[in-house]
Amino acid sequence: MNETKIKNIEDNYFAPVYEKLPIVITKGQGAILWDINGKEYIDCMGGYGVAIVGHCNKKVIEAINEQSKKLIICHGSLYNDARANLLEKIVKIAPKGLNNVYLSNSGAEAVECALKLARKYSGKPEIIAMTRSYHGKTLGALSATWNQKYRSPFLPLLPDVKFAPFGEVEKVKNAITEKTGAIIVEPIQGESGIYVAPDGFLKEIREICDEKNIVLIFDEIQTGFGRTGKMWACEHWGVIPDVICLAKGIAGGLPLGATLAKKEIMSSFKTGEHTSTFGGNPLSCAAASATIDYILEEKLVDRAANLGAIFKKRLENIKENHKIVRDVRGLGLMLGMELRFDIKNLLLRGIDKGLIMMYSGKNVLRFLPPLVINKEQIHKAMDILEVLVSEDEKTRL
Ligand SMILES: Cc1ncc(COP(=O)(O)O)c(C=O)c1O
Repeated sequence: MNETKIKNIEDNYFAPVYEKLPIVITKGQGAILWDINGKEYIDCMGGYGVAIVGHCNKKVIEAINEQSKKLIICHGSLYNDARANLLEKIVKIAPKGLNNVYLSNSGAEAVECALKLARKYSGKPEIIAMTRSYHGKTLGALSATWNQKYRSPFLPLLPDVKFAPFGEVEKVKNAITEKTGAIIVEPIQGESGIYVAPDGFLKEIREICDEKNIVLIFDEIQTGFGRTGKMWACEHWGVIPDVICLAKGIAGGLPLGATLAKKEIMSSFKTGEHTSTFGGNPLSCAAASATIDYILEEKLVDRAANLGAIFKKRLENIKENHKIVRDVRGLGLMLGMELRFDIKNLLLRGIDKGLIMMYSGKNVLRFLPPLVINKEQIHKAMDILEVLVSEDEKTRL
């Protein structure tokens, strides 16, 4: 099938919900993607943060191949070795005490589970989410997502969900009532512009939740598995939630979501109250086990911290030299560069020059490259970005 035909078919038959970039990607390896014409790109989109261990990681492929010959589906009502293997691995690396796991198929589902669990455990209906939050687009997760563009066509959403300003402890405190059962927070807000929780914020929220018997949920769907230079972003502030939501890179590219909670919290679910046909299927579990092994064996968490520092320094350098750059934010290999204008044209010109970046709001470039990206690729990507920013500066100033 040629490029035009593929684009026509997707444009005709695929739900028109994605803002498309005009390339047909057919191959990937590590931090590199190739389009249908063989053109090479440095991938700073990383499958929207999924490709942590790199595209087509050999260990993940091996695990998928082996498991696919043995068993692909095994419902949660039967025991399975690949699932047990993953559960043991994930609990071993999880924040301390979060030793009970619900397995699903996506980030939004991991959030759905967390919200239901918090209501069931606390017996209190109200949920406080943060301004600028993103937790997914299913109706429950969407209820805790801030952006009006996503929410307003689908009102009414879940009742008793309200928003407090991210980073402002006093205002969060003021939002709490005797009906508050849960607070849900992303330690670093990814979709709305890469905003890092200010120091002290998560710790104080933790203390308030302890004091008032509120379930603290961290959504680490984008920040987890080493992305920010720690296995979990909450480690940057030494805070452990009651429930953590994981997905994206967990299974090397296969769909898998996980909600981890303290046993006493998870056991408030009774048999049948929250299940999923595909949740914990052996194929995704085997891929996830291989992914976790790879992250640990290849020390990808430290790698994200070290390479992230190099990457961020280059971004900061570009900022210093160009007035059209407003800010650089982020930790590890979860980085953002805010410009003073809509970045669409810059994204498109990046593609022309062999660099794939992504939006995080209309004027923030987001970088979520595979953690296996190397220094040379980072410098090459930043050389391209510097040219793009210089070109823009010439036309805009
Ligand atoms: C922090 C966060 N939560 C939830 C989600 C939703 O995940 P999914 O798209 O897999 O449903 C995302 C996806 O970008 C996310 O970044």
